[in-house]
Amino acid sequence: MPHPRKVYTCTQCGSESPKWLGRCPGCNEWNTYVESAPVRKETRRHPVSGVQELSRVTNNVLPRLRLPLSEFNRVLGGGLVPGSVVLMGGDPGIGKSTLLLQVAGPIAAGEGNVLYVSGEESVHQIKLRAERLGMPGERLFLLPETELETILEHAEGANPRLVIVDSIQTVYIGELGPAAGSVAQVRECTSRLMRWAKRSNVPVFIVGHVTKDGVIAGPHTLEHIVDVVLYLEGERFSTYRLLRGVKNRFGSINEVGVFEMSDAGMVEVENPSEIFLSQRARHATGSVIVPIVEGTRPLLVEVQALASPTPFGMPRRNSNGVDYNRLLMIAAVLSKRAGIPLGSQDIIVNVAGGIRVNEPAADLGIALAIASSYRNAEVRSGLVALGEIGLGGELRSVSHLEKRLAEAAKLGFKTCLLPPVKAGARIPPDIEILPVVSLAQALRKGLEREGDSGSD
Ligand code: TYD
Ligand code: MG
Repeated sequence: MPHPRKVYTCTQCGSESPKWLGRCPGCNEWNTYVESAPVRKETRRHPVSGVQELSRVTNNVLPRLRLPLSEFNRVLGGGLVPGSVVLMGGDPGIGKSTLLLQVAGPIAAGEGNVLYVSGEESVHQIKLRAERLGMPGERLFLLPETELETILEHAEGANPRLVIVDSIQTVYIGELGPAAGSVAQVRECTSRLMRWAKRSNVPVFIVGHVTKDGVIAGPHTLEHIVDVVLYLEGERFSTYRLLRGVKNRFGSINEVGVFEMSDAGMVEVENPSEIFLSQRARHATGSVIVPIVEGTRPLLVEVQALASPTPFGMPRRNSNGVDYNRLLMIAAVLSKRAGIPLGSQDIIVNVAGGIRVNEPAADLGIALAIASSYRNAEVRSGLVALGEIGLGGELRSVSHLEKRLAEAAKLGFKTCLLPPVKAGARIPPDIEILPVVSLAQALRKGLEREGDSGSD
């Protein structure tokens, strides 16, 4: 028998190391390493189920379980695959329990028993929430329990169509010691739930809180075990929530579903572009519409910028919804290549609606918004902007062009500032292209009139 070795595991990202580290090389977080039992290799051989030739494997699998929310189905790639385990991660309070309860109710009503295991809330609290959601709750069985074996026994007995475990950090296995939420506990509990799901062909939702302290293991430590990983995201003070797929063994990743948190739970947002643009001020400087693509879905967002003279010393840059380093790069290129001296300007960039924009395709929109605010010049009306900015001030083309332009045209935008497109690219007929090769040229074509530089 080899000597059992110690393992240290990062509670944030799950990286492992044979010795304790102050800073995790995987996720750069400090003080997140904890000692964890090495994963026990199972010594007993299971009866082997037999080798099968791929061509002889039959495909008479059960159909997917469609969820009552089409935004949710979209992210899953068309419903829940029987026997799959789906991890739903997100910050505490973002709405994970609410969303899953909203899924559970109609499935219980229409499809069969649903078992909702809650280690966080009492049945009365869940009842209150269900009342708020207007859900009677027939065939929806609540189980306030945290011991995994007991949970699995109940799951066997309940003959469920769906099991929800809320949250994995509250569940524990007695043999592994008392501390629920440790890396070893959450991983082993997830693996056992996974085995149960595969054996019984029942899909399981697992809730995992994104944790800030280093003691409780976060959902990243489970991503490699489960079939599907979804994250529910949103800015704290915004009511919009994005459900994002980051791993999916049965569908495409990077799909997003958009919801709005209301008094009566999560409401699907079918036309997110309209919502994100609905509160836009007309004729404002420093505001540009950019057609981004989230997953496979185009989305129009408003990028806002404010440039104002620095009162003293160091100019400051502040980014909300845009990568900070990207903003520094764009500001530097604007100064150096497009004649917008930003060296003594504070710059604030914000994406309305609490959306995060990570695409280089939004560079031109960000630059245009900053220049518009700096010069106090409005952006041409009915205009959207697309293009990646290079360090020389040159503009590069973007992916998914047709989709983005179609979405912009659908919402009534008439023109698009765009680097030259390849011959043969399909452009929707109802939008006019303003081809631009450099940032300086884009500012000339995109801004209405050039007012005095200075404060807005
Ligand atoms: P919850 O689902 O408990 O979050 P999580 O499970 O991710 O921790 O959501 C909690 C928040 O949602 C809470 O601040 C109240 C709010 N909420 C609404 O705004 N509307 C509703 O209908 C419900 C049930 C909750
Ligand atoms: Mg919850």
